[in-house]
Amino acid sequence: MLDDIERVLISRDRIEARVRELAEDITRDHATGRSPDRAELTMIPILTGAMIFCCDLMRYIPMAMKIGMVTVSSYPGTSIRSQGPSVLGKQLGDIKGRHVVLVDDILDSGGTIRAVVPMLQELGAASVRVCVLLRKNRPEAMATPCDYVGFDIPDEFVVGYGLDYDDYYRNLPDVVTLKRSVIPPHRAES
Ligand code: IMP
Ligand code: MG
Repeated sequence: MLDDIERVLISRDRIEARVRELAEDITRDHATGRSPDRAELTMIPILTGAMIFCCDLMRYIPMAMKIGMVTVSSYPGTSIRSQGPSVLGKQLGDIKGRHVVLVDDILDSGGTIRAVVPMLQELGAASVRVCVLLRKNRPEAMATPCDYVGFDIPDEFVVGYGLDYDDYYRNLPDVVTLKRSVIPPHRAES
């Protein structure tokens, strides 16, 4: 697995430092003038990619919170361009009147966020804010409303820290690019 890495784009140390800063921003924005530990927050990672990021993030947010989950797939199998998001399942609890932070690993075409945010609003969330670890430098990503962004990155395919290729590499602690030999050329634009 380690042989497949082309280069480390964002190291585990930089990720950890940035995750702490994002957690501080989220905590501050949800304190709303009351004692932070009384605010009603629900963190919702978009599975599977945001699982590791959200686990780290929430441990730096010292507020009362519940956790929901939604599973969305847009890159089935070995595709590396979005095939359009489909919601495969959700376990949200009752989010009516709660402040929701939707957490994703990466903002790419923006299709996932644009599909999930209205769904949460329709379920009666008091607010929905979006937090992504990575945002790709492409117009569709930049045009998608997002409250918290960890890192802006070039429009490249990356894996690690939750992000996958064909469901592998999620357990790499750094965000990395893969060697061309790992992604067959005919897949690269599919
Ligand atoms: P979007 O709906 O196109 O914004 O894509 C978001 C989803 O696609 C993310 O939650 C990821 O699961 C996946 N994705 C987008 N870009 C990458 C990438 O570079 N590597 C791995 N997964 C990606
Ligand atoms: Mg994925």
